[in-house]
Order: sequence, then C-alpha cells, then structure tokens
Amino acid sequence: MKRGKKVTVIGAGNVGATVAYILAMNGACHSVVLRDRDIEIAKGKALDMSQAANAARMHTIVSVAEDPKDIADSDVVVITAGSPRLPGMSREDLLMINVNITKEVIEDVKKYAPNAVIIMVSNPLDVMTYVAFKESGFPRERVIGMAGILDSARMAHFIYEKIGYGAGQIRASVMGGHGDEMVPLPKFSTIAGVPLTDVLSQSEIDEVVERTKFGGAEIIGYLKTGSAYFAPAKSTAIMVESILKDTKQIYPCAVYLDGEYGHSDVVSGVPLVLGAGGAEKIFQLTLNDEQKAKFAKSVDSVKKMINVLNENKFFEKGE
Ligand code: NAI
Ligand code: 2OP
Repeated sequence: MKRGKKVTVIGAGNVGATVAYILAMNGACHSVVLRDRDIEIAKGKALDMSQAANAARMHTIVSVAEDPKDIADSDVVVITAGSPRLPGMSREDLLMINVNITKEVIEDVKKYAPNAVIIMVSNPLDVMTYVAFKESGFPRERVIGMAGILDSARMAHFIYEKIGYGAGQIRASVMGGHGDEMVPLPKFSTIAGVPLTDVLSQSEIDEVVERTKFGGAEIIGYLKTGSAYFAPAKSTAIMVESILKDTKQIYPCAVYLDGEYGHSDVVSGVPLVLGAGGAEKIFQLTLNDEQKAKFAKSVDSVKKMINVLNENKFFEKGE
C-alpha cells in the first residue's frame, strides 16, 4: 500500500542515483523507487541510500522496482535511463540509442503510473521530452524536461567566476533547447537585481554565453568516461520538490510548445510555473528580434532531430 509521496527514478546511473540521494537526504518524499536494467546495482545503491537516510534521521526509504508494476502510483517519475554522452559524442549522437530506451520506459509509466508527472533527463533532452509526450499521451503539463535550471546554474557560476562576488545571488536566464544552440539571455540576468549588463562588458558577457553553451562538454572533457551529474541531479531534484510540494515557483524547463513564441509541435525550454499539476503556466517573454532569431534557431535544431525520427517512421512503429 502506498504511504505518502512516491518518486520513481528510472535509470539508476550517475544522475538518477544522485537525484535519489538528494531526495532521500532532504526527506522530500516517503519513498524513492529505483528502476534500472541492472537490478543488482540498483539494489546496492538503494540499500546504501536508505542507510544514509537513517544516518540523516530522514524517513525516506529507497527501494528497487524489480518489476515494472512496482512503479505503480508514483507521483513523479524521473527518467534518466540511457547512455551518457561520451567524449567526442554530441547530444544528437545519442538520439537513436536513447529514443528506443525512452519509448520502452514510457510504456511502463503509461501502464503503471498514468497519473504521474514525468521529468525527462535523458539526452538529447528536448527530443526525448517530445518522445515521452507523444508516446505517453499524457497532457503536456505532465511531461517536462530538465535542462534550463542546469544551464542557468552553469551560466550563474561562470558569471561568478568573472566578477568574484554575488555567489548564490546570481539569477541567470537560459531559454531554448539543451544543445549548442541554447539561448543564454544576459539581458534577463541579474546579480541580486543588478543587471548583468551593468556589471560585465559585452566581450565578458560573450565569453560567459559561449562557455554556458558548452558547459556540459567542458565537464565531459575532464571526466572522460561520462558526463556531469551533481548539478544535473540537483536541478532535477529542485523540479521534483517543486511538484511534490506544489510550490508554484518559476523555473526554465522544457515543455511541448503549442503556439507559444510562434512555435508548435516541438519541445523547448521556456520559463514556467512548476506545481502539483506539473507545468501549470508557461510565460511568453517579450523577446527582441535577435533573441527571437536565436530561439527560432534552437527550436529548429530540435525539429531537425524530430524529422529524423519521422523519416525513420519512429512514431508509427508498434501502432
Ligand atoms: P549513466 O550511464 O550513469 O546512467 C544511465 C543508467 O540508465 C544506467 O544505470 C543504465 O543501466 C540505465 N538504463 C539504460 N537503459 C535502461 C532501460 N531500458 N531501463 C532502465 N534503465 C536503463 O548516465 P548518466 O550520467 O546518469 O546520464 C543519464 C542520461 O541523462 C544521459 O542520457 C545523459 O546524457 C543525460 N543527461 C542529461 C542532462 C540534462 O541536462 N538534461 C544532464 C546530464 C545528463
Ligand atoms: C550536460 O549538459 C551531458 O547534457 C549533459 O552535462
């Protein structure tokens, strides 16, 4: 029998396990269920985390879904199952590997957790969120991708590195897809309300923007055998907690667009209100022509990948 809030994390690798650990340490829910194709590793991590929760005097129990039906009644399902991005591999290279994994996993969510809010993390993020939306048949409010919080946090840190003060007070803004065409928005970024454009020169801002766009690749370059997971996991946990606690706070997240910003039938990152219902309200910022053009280019790069799936009749298979 279900007690309290239940979060399932599918894919108990670096990002998924760290999400589960953060939730357990915060006591964010009654139960975190890990599901991975490697059940033994998931079991080891679940035990370890449940013991850590006891050490932290937290009530959260982490367990393993050995059978898909063990994810039943989840309030939130986080999907990180897939292959990580390796050195030299673009997010797009992951497309065909991860798209089939996402499809398989979504079948289980649809069947056993039909009322959950899905948070997609697997890359390429915007396309995987699109696939999760299409394959689940859930309303778009309940299929949300994690990227904007991460990309904004990266930009905030790079701003901090330039100025050397204001850590934790920097509110950077990034829209668009989680790819090389993401759209950092210096004009919407502040340090405790002080506009970034009053603090950094244009060339310094340009450097921050470029570093943000390739922030994931920078970490892969150091780690070599995998990609970032602390900031991605924290960003995901922020989304989970906002939904569980119905905080209705505003975050940049990826969601299916249905006319917003002039784009349809595609997923991209936009500011939205996150609450118990998922993406409860989408904001349409007033962008200038340059920002609109960059956003359109980012959307276009996601559409190109969706077209690859359509050419492969991906959405027709199994129907
Ligand atoms: P990882 O390799 O450490 O973990 C992936 C896990 O998925 C593995 O444990 C694997 O056994 C599992 N898995 C694979 N197929 C499965 C299936 N069919 N069912 C259940 N589990 C399955 O990778 P990591 O670092 O955790 O990254 C996970 C994904 O998240 C990757 O696609 C990565 O590119 C993406 N990512 C996205 C970010 C974002 O901003 N949206 C940030 C960081 C990572
Ligand atoms: C990142 O940005 C690989 O998408 C992942 O770290």
